[in-house]
Amino acid sequence: MTKRIRKAVFPVAGLGTRFLPATKSIPKEMLTIVDRPVLQHVVEEAAEAGIEHFIFVTGRGKAVIEDHFDINYELDDTLRRRGKVKEFEALKAQLPAAGATSFTRQQAPLGLGHAVWCARELVGDEPFAVLLPDMVTMAGPQNSGRCLRQCVEAYEKHGGNIIAVEEVSPEETHQYGVVSIGKDEGASFEITGMVEKPPKGTAPSTSIISGRYLLGPEIFAILERIEKGAGGEIQLTDGMKELAKTQAFHGVRFDGKTYDCGSKIGFLAANVAFALANPDVASAFKAELKKFGPF
Ligand code: G1P
Repeated sequence: MTKRIRKAVFPVAGLGTRFLPATKSIPKEMLTIVDRPVLQHVVEEAAEAGIEHFIFVTGRGKAVIEDHFDINYELDDTLRRRGKVKEFEALKAQLPAAGATSFTRQQAPLGLGHAVWCARELVGDEPFAVLLPDMVTMAGPQNSGRCLRQCVEAYEKHGGNIIAVEEVSPEETHQYGVVSIGKDEGASFEITGMVEKPPKGTAPSTSIISGRYLLGPEIFAILERIEKGAGGEIQLTDGMKELAKTQAFHGVRFDGKTYDCGSKIGFLAANVAFALANPDVASAFKAELKKFGPF
């Protein structure tokens, strides 16, 4: 029997320099995809996978994230008085339960491994999920839910640790963490190695770590002591590599698509894809797109 995954960690301390000037006073995670912040899309993915407690590792200038996942009494009151019942009910339905969110600060930008380690007290001694908010996922045609739900299913089957992966072209592997593939069952496979940002031409495969993880709490003691890796940062991939010496890791090729909203192109593509999938705006948006003519 596997222990249920109840908690998820969202590392949201990054500066978002690639989106300046938009991110000068707004956290990059609060930029919108259609009608909600990037981060809300990712939190909804976690909730769909059964997550009950949402842990945000934030930094200076990110307080608005905390406000976003709280009640806005004035707004609720105004919506109610104006009879905007639909909007009021939608906000209420999206609000995490009282006590279901926690916030801690990373203090210094020492890398993803360090950000996850900052959540150690809040996670405690149980397996947990990590979702990188730059990576926004959409469910695929098989209707099997978004990426984290598929990871949880793989975890219930294999136990141990789970990493979602995605295929990229060989020219792109150097920008990501890359896994080595062992016994392969198609939808999931045994991970036999990992490397963070391999130099061009050296990646062991084209399966990249795509920003969804289910990890055992033993990772925290490792993250506390590992040396800085790629880019002079404490890398989560290096911590997982160490944990893989004693625990199993499986990769999940999920049904769906990831948009890398850490880049302008990925962010713009996510807006188009989510607008086309949203019944409130899809047909009107399609008509607007057509006005650009064929490219
Ligand atoms: C991080 C991880 C990397 C992963 C990537 C996905 O890198 O370290 O393994 O492939 O996210 O976006 P970063 O984007 O922080 O450089």
